[in-house]
Amino acid sequence: MSKHSQSVLQILNTHVEAAFSALDLPVEYGRVVVAGKPDIAPFQCNGALAAAKFAKKSPRDIAQAVVEKLENIADIAKADIGGPGFINLTPAQSLVHTRANGLAASETTGARHAEVTKKIIVDFGGPNVAKPMHVGHLRSSVIGDCLQRLLRFRGHDVVSDIHLGDWGLQMGHLITELKYEQPDLIYFNADITEGYPTTSPVDIDDLARLYPQASIKAKEDADRMVLSRTATSELQAGRAGYRALLNHFIEVSIIALKKDFGALGVNFDLWKGEAAVDPLIAPMVAKFKADGFAEESEGALIIRVAEDSDKKELPPLILISSAGAALYATTDLATIQDRRDTLNPDTILYVVDFGQSSHFEQVYRAAGKTGLFPKKDLEHIKFGTVNGTDGKRFRTRAGGVMRLSDLLSQAKDAATKRLDEAGLAADMDATERAEIARMVGLAAIKFSDLQNVRTTNYIFDLERFTSFEGKTGPYLLYAAVRIKSLLRKAEKMGVVVGEITPEADAEKKLVLTLDSFNRALANAEEKRMPHILCDHVYSLAQAFSKFYADCHILAPETPDTVKSSRLALAALTLRQLELGLDILGIEAPERM
Ligand code: ARG
Repeated sequence: MSKHSQSVLQILNTHVEAAFSALDLPVEYGRVVVAGKPDIAPFQCNGALAAAKFAKKSPRDIAQAVVEKLENIADIAKADIGGPGFINLTPAQSLVHTRANGLAASETTGARHAEVTKKIIVDFGGPNVAKPMHVGHLRSSVIGDCLQRLLRFRGHDVVSDIHLGDWGLQMGHLITELKYEQPDLIYFNADITEGYPTTSPVDIDDLARLYPQASIKAKEDADRMVLSRTATSELQAGRAGYRALLNHFIEVSIIALKKDFGALGVNFDLWKGEAAVDPLIAPMVAKFKADGFAEESEGALIIRVAEDSDKKELPPLILISSAGAALYATTDLATIQDRRDTLNPDTILYVVDFGQSSHFEQVYRAAGKTGLFPKKDLEHIKFGTVNGTDGKRFRTRAGGVMRLSDLLSQAKDAATKRLDEAGLAADMDATERAEIARMVGLAAIKFSDLQNVRTTNYIFDLERFTSFEGKTGPYLLYAAVRIKSLLRKAEKMGVVVGEITPEADAEKKLVLTLDSFNRALANAEEKRMPHILCDHVYSLAQAFSKFYADCHILAPETPDTVKSSRLALAALTLRQLELGLDILGIEAPERM
C-alpha cells in the first residue's frame, strides 16, 4: 500500500513500531490506537507498559526512550508521556493536510477493499409464504441488507437469498382451506396430473385470509389438523395438483413481497425458498444414511449432533419426522448442498434471530459432520428481539401481527408530524413533502435498528426514532441536507472547492474522523456489526457540526482560499456521509 492511501493512524503506527524495534522491543507493543481521551492527543500507544515487563524496566523509561526516537520524525508534531507510561501522539499538521487531500481525491473517501475477498451468501429476510411477517423478519431484512451492502462495498462477491419459508405445514393448511372454499378446482382431482391453469386461483389477500382461518380451525379441531398434515405429506410426496398450487402460492407471494421489500429499499439476488430444494432431499437423506450419519430413532430419522463439551444438551437434528415429513433443518441442509453445488461460496451468513440458535447449531454441526460444508464457514448472525414501549414483544397498534406496509406508513406519518414540528419542508408541494417524509420514516426505522449492538433487544418507539435530535436517522439526513444546501449556496456565490488546508482544531478533528471510515468499515465487516458503521456516521455528523459552528465557511471575512478549503472539506464530508448511509440502506433527500 502506498503511503498516500494510508491513514494517519497507520502512518503513526509504522513510526512507533519502528521506534520499538530500534530499541529491541517487540514491534507488536508499538501499536497505535485512537486515544481514549482525545482532548490530550488524538492517538496513543499503550505498549510501553507491556514492553516494560518484557525488558524488565520501568514503563516510563521505556516510554521516554520511544518518545526520544520519535522526536525528529516529520509526521509527528508531538509525542509525550501520560500517566504510568502511555505515549500520546499528535500527528503533524502536514500529515493531516496531505491525508485530507488524499481522502478528497479518493472515490471512496478513503475506504478500501478487504485484503482477502470472498464469495459470500447472505441468507436473510426469510418471510414465510402466507404467514404475515413479524418484526423478526423486519430486523433480519434491515441487518441483512446492510451486511450485503457492506460486504459488497468491501469487494466481496455477495449473493443474497431471501430463503422463503414455503415448505411447511402452512402449505398443507392453505391447500386444505382452499379445498373447503373451492372443492371443484382441478388441483384437487387426484386423477389429473397435468395441464393446470397458468393463472393462480388465489391472490395474496386470499392467502392472507386462508392461512389464519385454517390455523385457527386446526388448533381447535384435531381432525382438521390431520387433514392439513396429510395434505402437507402428499405435497411433499409429489402430488401434482398440490405441487401446482404450491407454485401458485409462491408466485403470488413473491409478487406481494417484492412490492413490500421494494418499499423498504431491500433487494435480494435470489428469491429461492425451502421448496426449491425438495428434489435434493431424498438423495441427500439416502447418502446420510449410507454414510452412517443418519439413524432411526422412535420412527424418525435423525442425525446426532451433541458433543461432549456441550454445557447444554443439544438434541439430535430431525431429518425426517415419524410422519415422514422433511422438516426445517432438512430443507436447510439441502439448501446448503444446493448453494455449495451451484454457487460454491466460501461463507454463508444466516441473519436470523437469537431464538433459532439451537436450530442453526444443529444444522451447522450436521453439515460439518457429514462433510456437506465446513462448519466454521457457516455463521449465524444473531439478533435480539424488538419490544414495544410497554416492554412486551412488539406488536402493531391494532395489537395484531405486523404488516410491513402498515409499519412503513406509520413511520411516514410520524415523520410528517416531526417535519411539521421542526418547520422543515414547509415550502414544498405535497408530493415532495410526502417523498421526504417517506425517506425520513425509513431512515428512522433502519437507523434505530442498526445502531444497536445487534445481539441486544431494543424498544420500538417511533416517536423517538423520528426525532431530528440525537442519534437518529432523521438527524443524519438533516446533516446531509444541510451540507447539500451549503454546496448549493457556494455554487451560487461562485465559490469552488480547492486544496484542503486544515488549520482549526475542528477542521483537523473532522479530517481525522473522515480518516477513520475505512477502519469502521473493516471492523463492522469483521464483527458483522452494523452499529460500528452507525457510530462512525454519527461521529462524522457531529464532527461536521462542530466544524460548521467553529469555522465560517462562506462568510465575507473568510479568505477565498480558506473558503475553498472549507468547502472542499464539507463536500468530502457529504460524500462520505452519503456513502456510509447508503451502506446502511438509507437514502437522503436533496433538501428539506
Ligand atoms: N422462514 C424462517 C422463519 O420465519 C426464517 C428463515 C431463515 N433462514 C434459514 N435458512 N433458515 O423463522
